[in-house]
Amino acid sequence: MVNRPPTRQVYRRFSDCSVSEKLLNSLFLATMGVAYILAMVYLYTSHEGLDGKPGLSVDDVAYTYYGNRSGTRLEAALRGSMSAHLTFEERDKVVEWIYSGSPKAAFDSEIQPIFEKNCISCHSGRSGIVDLSDITEVKKLTDVDMGKSIGELARVSHIHLFGVGMLLFLIGRIFILCEMPGILKKIIVGIPFLAIFMDIGSWWLTHWKPLFAYAVMLGGGLTGLSIAFQILMSLYQMWLYKGGKKY
Ligand code: HEC
Repeated sequence: MVNRPPTRQVYRRFSDCSVSEKLLNSLFLATMGVAYILAMVYLYTSHEGLDGKPGLSVDDVAYTYYGNRSGTRLEAALRGSMSAHLTFEERDKVVEWIYSGSPKAAFDSEIQPIFEKNCISCHSGRSGIVDLSDITEVKKLTDVDMGKSIGELARVSHIHLFGVGMLLFLIGRIFILCEMPGILKKIIVGIPFLAIFMDIGSWWLTHWKPLFAYAVMLGGGLTGLSIAFQILMSLYQMWLYKGGKKY
């Protein structure tokens, strides 16, 4: 019987990879990096300005998931930009109708005449601005915006968890070939998974309380930073890092 010396498990590192493996890894990481940047551009353009101000802000995130429950677009217009077009009594009548659930019968008997007298000259539907003679169009302005519904949240959440989970796994598989103290590597591999749960979990929490929009941004930012770090560190160690300490 041979007496084997106690051996330590030796793990693979980038220095064990063939050039073609490094090339494949690098092209994959670069593609994911570009895809991530484009995802950010899409996110910015689709959420920016929802709160009426340019740029992406916490309020935009809150509007997306919580909605704007403080009132309806019709009431906001009646109290704001359109207030000059009707009397206070007429306005209160319309607002009361909104709060009673905007029933069709009352629209025909009480609201339509008010719109007819004050609004239809501009809002007839011919002019391209909202048609106030059509109750289905008016109804769209009297629904309270509740943000994303539970169904929509479940839809975008599961797509993101499948997609981002897969992405983090593959990027992480490459990243763990880096030379780096074990504890540091464990943390850096773990952070993006925590961050994505924080991000997506906070979509749901923001639907419930708008304050969680801060956690959405924090989670999203942390996910992006940790992915960027893993990609850049892997590319650096694959091609530029010359030995140094082995871990
Ligand atoms: C002199 C023309 C004019 C009259 C009269 C007028 N509006 Fe408007 N209204 C506009 C224009 C133009 C816009 C679109 C531009 C904007 O959003 O500011 C608009 C926008 C709106 C919107 C905003 C829709 C949205 O996207 O949120 C509502 C609601 C509205 N009007 C309701 C009314 C009501 C109710 C009246 C009658 C009491 C009225 N308007 C009278 C010209 C008019």
